[in-house]
Formats: sequence, C-alpha cells, structure tokens
Amino acid sequence: MAFDELPAKERWFCRARLKLAPLEQVAARASGSDILDVGCGHGVLAALLLYGHPERRVVGIDPDLRKIEWANESIGRLPNAEFRAVTIEALAAERPAAFDCVIIADVLCLIARATWPPFLDAARRLLRPGGQLLLKDAENDGSWRAVKALWQERLMVHVLRRTVSTGGIGFATREELAGYVTRAGFAVDDIRATRAATPRRTFC
Ligand SMILES: C[S@@+](CC[C@H](N)C(=O)[O-])C[C@H]1O[C@@H](n2cnc3c(N)ncnc32)[C@H](O)[C@@H]1O
Repeated sequence: MAFDELPAKERWFCRARLKLAPLEQVAARASGSDILDVGCGHGVLAALLLYGHPERRVVGIDPDLRKIEWANESIGRLPNAEFRAVTIEALAAERPAAFDCVIIADVLCLIARATWPPFLDAARRLLRPGGQLLLKDAENDGSWRAVKALWQERLMVHVLRRTVSTGGIGFATREELAGYVTRAGFAVDDIRATRAATPRRTFC
C-alpha cells in the first residue's frame, strides 16, 4: 500500500478511510485520463484512481497543508500524481478545461453553503466539454444515520481536529444538492446510494 511508510497514525487514518468510505465505488465511476480530486486529503481516493491505470494523471488539491504533505510523501511519489494546497477557484484560473473528470468526495458538507455556487462553477470551468463531475456527499434524509454522520464530522473537525472545515458543517437534501449542481450548469445523469454505513449519494 502506498501509505505504508507514513507514521502509524496517518497509516491508520488512510486504512480506516479505505475501509469505511465507499471510495472504490466512486473511483470505479471515474472516466477519462485527467482527473482532479478536490479535497483529496491524504490521497486515498487518488491512489484508488491510479492503481491499474498508468495512463491516468491525477491532481489532488486540499487546503490542509499537512494532508498534502502526507499525500506527497506517499502516493504523490508516482510520476502521474500531483498534490497541491491550492483552492479550486485558483486552479480553475490556472488550468481551465484541463480535466476529463472532477471528483468532490465528502467535501461540500465541510464548506459554507454560500460558497457552493462559486465552488461548483470552478469545477465546471476545470472540465473539458462533456467532462464528468462526480459528487459524493452525505444526504440529509432526516434519518438517525444522517444525524450520526453529522456528529462524526463535528468530532473530526472540532474535537480531533483531523479535518479542516472551510465555513461550516452540514448536509443538504438530495433535492438541494441536485439544485446546486444544475444551477452550476451541469446535467444530473444519475443519483445513487453508495453502500456504506452512513447515507452517501453519488451524483454523476
Ligand atoms: C472528509 S475529508 C475527504 C477526503 C477525501 N476526499 C476522501 O474522500 O477520502 C474532507 C476534505 O475536504 C477538505 N476541504 C475542506 N474545505 C475544503 C475546500 N474549501 N476545498 C477543498 N477541500 C476542502 C479537507 O481538508 C479534507 O481533506
């Protein structure tokens, strides 16, 4: 595993993420050779995207410099992986229409709702014509699992300080999420539940 040489705590974190989050299902739906992983964290999803796909180039971005460093010290050693602490808006200005696929996995719930439109607009500008947005986020379906997932995020952000939040923590309903995506200029092809202990939805 690419993360074997990281300190034990970080290694454990990557293993837990692999086991608990249905990232393999997200990676399996990605298409194209140039893929952007927004809010990549340690690069666990990027690793799944790259294994078995030497033709792919994956760029991961995240505001958390610690995580970008861990990503660069592990999966970032591959020649076709690049990890940077840069905002999605800055990358969109720097590399417009550079990607076949943009993935945003479990990130929107950590940023202020008011910033979702410019965030998604930047994702659209980063895509080539006909490109694919894969959006994975927990859904506020009113269930106890959604409440549990919310408290888990709060624990990670405010108590354990393992996750950076840029403006708030909260889940949207499926309709709200689809509305934001559509208003950003995307056509929603598919909404599906992923197999996980918490309610996750993938928009493609
Ligand atoms: C729950 S983790 C998900 C990590 C990774 N996408 C995965 O699925 O394993 C959320 C990540 O979003 C990042 N994040 C928070 N605010 C962000 C923003 N405004 N833009 C991009 N990433 C952000 C955090 O630093 C964190 O690494």
